[in-house]
Amino acid sequence: MIEYRNLRVALLGAGSVGAQVVALLQKHGDELAQRAGAGLELVGVAVRDVDAPRTADIPRELLTTDAEALIVGADVVIELIGGIEPARTYILQALNSGADVVTANKALIATHGPELFAAAEQVGAQLFYEAAVAGAIPIIRPLRDSLAGDQVTRIMGIVNGTTNFILDRMDTDGEGLETALATATELGYAEADPTGDIEGFDAAQKAAILASLAFHTTVPIDSVHREGITSVTAEQVASARAAGFVIKLLAICERLTDASGTEGVSARVYPALVPRTHPLAAVRGAKNAVFVEAEAAGDLMFYGAGAGGIETASAVLGDLVSAARRHVIGGPGIAESNHADLPVLPISSVTTRYQISLLVGDRPGVLATIAAVFAEHGVSVETVSQSVSSVGADGGPATATLVIGTHEASEADLAATVAALGGNDVVRSVTSVLRVEGSD
Ligand code: NDP
Ligand code: HSE
Repeated sequence: MIEYRNLRVALLGAGSVGAQVVALLQKHGDELAQRAGAGLELVGVAVRDVDAPRTADIPRELLTTDAEALIVGADVVIELIGGIEPARTYILQALNSGADVVTANKALIATHGPELFAAAEQVGAQLFYEAAVAGAIPIIRPLRDSLAGDQVTRIMGIVNGTTNFILDRMDTDGEGLETALATATELGYAEADPTGDIEGFDAAQKAAILASLAFHTTVPIDSVHREGITSVTAEQVASARAAGFVIKLLAICERLTDASGTEGVSARVYPALVPRTHPLAAVRGAKNAVFVEAEAAGDLMFYGAGAGGIETASAVLGDLVSAARRHVIGGPGIAESNHADLPVLPISSVTTRYQISLLVGDRPGVLATIAAVFAEHGVSVETVSQSVSSVGADGGPATATLVIGTHEASEADLAATVAALGGNDVVRSVTSVLRVEGSD
């Protein structure tokens, strides 16, 4: 074997993920060197507080608060600080000096990806980010490399463990959202501020990254439609269960043609009804999964741990070995592909099936009135079910709950239908509107 010099590896951050990267490097460093074709020498670990307790045994002399000095002369810089600044500045410094960079920073890639990829391309370096989406699950490399010869048409992902854990608890134990969130926080799944999880910001960042990769198009984070799970009720979860569905927070990336014939892409995050027979319905607890539909390959599913220190460190080390191999072989890094440059279409261009629940007066002609509202707005009804009528608690007229499933309808037509139903005399209230995804 040809002897190769040690590669200098600088690590920024030694928290949940960073400390596990050090631990795995200590445990498997020799083996990883064989796989990489080069020694991997950890030359330093930048942190905020060198005296803070660590979950790995990091030699004191490696710790520093001077990240900038550590980056100078490094062959590979691993950024595991998180957030936008100073992570962005450090990554640009590393790339501009010719180092390859490995990061798990979804927030940064989703918001500043194009700037960072351009900086890498300019100097022939490469930015690796397998851990930024769905933690340990290999999904970036499959989309960029394994499926490079195919046409990805759609991705549906459960890419936030916290919300999947909460929805699963609501579904299986009948727990409330607040209680389930408290448990998710206790178990370390949720971010320090869980707003990013439950309001769908974290999933939206991952959707932007997946859509950009899958469709060779820059998808800005601001163009991702986002709805979180805070408005999902126990009643919705229970009636979904009774109807053979489960509610999941989905990140959906799709290639589509809108009503005017414009071909583009859509990236969106919202809670949706998924049939219990769909593979994504079986994704329990805090696990993640990404379901990919490709023209030639058909349906593919990637499943596993979407978070966790050691699990995420696995993806980081995979990238480190790739970066090292690249150094050994030489030549420029692989540039990010955005040649398709498709327009990102608004949510109003999307067509989906819906399930709408209405509380209505139980008397002759109500069903016909409601059916007419759907017809007037061009929304085709597929199924109707009515629950047992009940006399109002105040002794008033009997009411019934109607659950109406639609064929595919546009967001715009559906919104107009719901508004018209809300204003119709026969409707007491529109109690639930949910999209249905993953049914044939
Ligand atoms: P932590 O908050 O646990 O760790 C952050 C580390 O960065 C700490 O060691 C901290 O130092 C250090 N740090 C913060 N600011 C600076 C600074 N200005 N200069 C030098 N060091 C600094 O984060 P995680 O390990 O959880 O996450 C790291 C990245 O991985 C994030 O981008 C996150 O989104 C991503 N990720 C995390 C997952 C997870 O399960 N945790 C899953 C997937 C991705 P100190 O310890 O001294 O405070
Ligand atoms: N808070 C995130 C989650 C961590 O719940 O999935 C991984 O990005």
